[in-house]
Amino acid sequence: MSRLKGLKAESSQFTLEGKPFRILGGSIHYFRVPRAYWEDRLLKMKACGLNTLTTYVPWNLHEPERGIFNFQDQLDLKAYVSLAAQMGLWVILRPGPYICAEWDLGGLPSWLLQDKDMQLRTTYPGFVDAVNLYFDKLFSVIKPLMFEEGGPIIALQVENEYGSFARDEKYMPFIKNCLQSRGVNELLLTSDNWEGLRYGGMDGVLKTINLQRLSFGAIQHLADMQPQKPLMVMEYWSGWFDVWGEHHHVFHAEDMLAVVSEILERGVSINLYMFHGGTSFGFMNGAIDFGTYKPQVTSYDYDAPLSEAGDCTTKYQLLRNLFSQYHSEPLPEVPSAQEKRAYSPVFIQQHLSLWDTLHFTDKPHRSERPVNMENLPVNSNSGQSYGYTLYETTITSGGALNSRNNIRDRALVFVDRQCVGSLDYKTHEVALPDGKGQRTLSLLVENCGRVNYGKALDEQRKGIVGDIVLNQSPLRGFTTFCLDMKPSFIKRLTNSGQWKTDLKSPTVPGFFQARLSVDGPPKDTFIRLPGWGKGVVFVNGQNLGRYWFIGPQHFLYLPGPWLRSGQNQIIVFEEQRADDRILFAENPDHGKTIDVYKLPFCTLL
Ligand code: GLA
Repeated sequence: MSRLKGLKAESSQFTLEGKPFRILGGSIHYFRVPRAYWEDRLLKMKACGLNTLTTYVPWNLHEPERGIFNFQDQLDLKAYVSLAAQMGLWVILRPGPYICAEWDLGGLPSWLLQDKDMQLRTTYPGFVDAVNLYFDKLFSVIKPLMFEEGGPIIALQVENEYGSFARDEKYMPFIKNCLQSRGVNELLLTSDNWEGLRYGGMDGVLKTINLQRLSFGAIQHLADMQPQKPLMVMEYWSGWFDVWGEHHHVFHAEDMLAVVSEILERGVSINLYMFHGGTSFGFMNGAIDFGTYKPQVTSYDYDAPLSEAGDCTTKYQLLRNLFSQYHSEPLPEVPSAQEKRAYSPVFIQQHLSLWDTLHFTDKPHRSERPVNMENLPVNSNSGQSYGYTLYETTITSGGALNSRNNIRDRALVFVDRQCVGSLDYKTHEVALPDGKGQRTLSLLVENCGRVNYGKALDEQRKGIVGDIVLNQSPLRGFTTFCLDMKPSFIKRLTNSGQWKTDLKSPTVPGFFQARLSVDGPPKDTFIRLPGWGKGVVFVNGQNLGRYWFIGPQHFLYLPGPWLRSGQNQIIVFEEQRADDRILFAENPDHGKTIDVYKLPFCTLL
C-alpha cells in the first residue's frame, strides 16, 4: 500500500502525512494492564484528547527463557498496537532493549546475568548476540505495524536515557543499526533527562527531553542543542513511583496542569509518562539504589491521569479541558467508570506449610557453594528469574551466622524450621542457638526486585551471591529449591490434596487458601490484608504481586476480569504473620503521601 509520508522532523515542527503535526502522547504499558481492559484505557486516552500512544516493550517477559518467545495473550503486542490504530491513535514504540520503567532490571532478562562477565547496555558480545536474536523476533512481529506498511507506528525510540549511562560509545549506533537493518524507516528518537542530554543522542536521531518542571530552562537547553528541530518532552512525569517503606508520591493536579499548559503554549510536543500507570503484577517491580537499595511497590498508580484501576482523576478532567482546545472537533465521550465492589470478607479455610510444598518445586540443586538464582539449572537452564529461593545446609553448632552482605535481598533464617532471624542489606549477622547433633539451616531468600536504573545493572544477581559464614567458616553443601511460584507450581499446590484445615496454629511461611464467591458479573476490587505481614497473593493462579505491612501501599488491585462468577480461589503466601481473613475494599489505600516536589533529587525533575 502506498502511503503519504510518515512522521518527519525536518523543521521546527513535526509533519505527519505531509501536514504539521503536534504529538499529544500518553504512555500505557500493555504489560501493566489486564488485556480485557486495554480497550477501555485506550478509549479513555482518545477521549482525553491525546493522539498518540507510547509504550515500552519488556524483553524479560517476551523472552522469559533464552530462545523461548512469548507474544501471546497479555503479551500480544501486535493486538495492542492494532487496537490503538482502530481507536485512531498513532503509536510511538520504545523497544529498548533496556527500558528502565521501574521494571525488574529495566526489562532486561535476568538470564543475561548467567555470564559472570556480562556488561549490559554495551557492545559486549554476549549482550549484542542476545539483543540480535531478540530483535529478530520482535521486529518480525511488529514490522507490519510500521507506518510505511500501513500501520500506526510513526516513530521508535532508540534505547532509553542512554546519556545517563553512557558506558560505550559504540552501543547507541549498534542499537540504531539494529532497528534500521531490520527495515525500520520511521523516525527515530532518543529520550534523556536534562543531565543525560549532555552525553545522550546521536546524529540523525531526534533528541527529546524528560522532565516534570520547566526550571533550568530545560526546553531552551534542548532547542539550543538541536536548532531547527521540533521540540518534544518524551516523558512528562505526571506523578512518580513509590518504594516500600516510604511515602506515596503525589504531584498536584493544578501544578501539573500549569506545566503542561506552558509546554503546549510553547508549541512543544508532549508525552505524558504515565497517562495510566497500572500495576507491576507478579514479581515485576524494579528497585532503585543510590547508595541504599529500595525496591518499588506493586502498584504503578503513578498518580497519573487514569488511576491504577483505570478511573478518571482530577488530572484527567483538567487535561481533557486543556487538550480539547487543540482539536477542531469535540472530543469523544468519556467511557463510564468500571464498577468496584467491596466483597464481603473471606476466611482462610486451608493451609499448607512452605516445608510441605518443597516436593512441588523443580528438582532441588545440590552444590558445595551457594549458587545465585540466575545460575541454578532450572527453567531449561535459563536459571531462576524471580521470587524466592530456599538454601539449606547442615550445621553442627550454633554461633554467629554472618552473610558478608551476600544476601540479595532479604532472607529469613531457620534452624530446624524454626525462624531465628532475618538478614538483609542492613543486618548481616544472626545468632544461631546452640543445639545437639546435625541440624538443618534454611535461608529463604527473596529477590525483592532488580535495580532498573543506574550503573549497578551488572551486579543484580539474586539469591545468595557469595559465601555465608558460621563462626567465620564458610558454609558448604547446599540443597537449593527454586520457588519462583510460577502458575504450574501454584497448580500443583492446588491439586495436592495436602492442604490442612486445622488452622489453630498454622506454620509460617506458608500458603493460605480462601474462596471468594462472586454473584453476577465480577467487578474490580482491592484486596486488603490488615493483620498480615509480608507476602504474595494469587487469585485463580494469577500472581497479583507483593504486599508488605510497612506500606505505603496497603492493598492489591484485583481486576474484575481475573475473577469469575461463582467460586474463586485466593492463595496468600505469607512469610511471617498470618491472619484468618482477607478483606476487600472499593478504594485503594495508598498510605501516607508526600508531594513529589519534596524529593531530594528534584533537581532532576
Ligand atoms: C526515566 C525512565 C522511565 C522511568 C522514569 C521514572 O525517565 O526513562 O522509564 O523510569 O524515569 O518513572
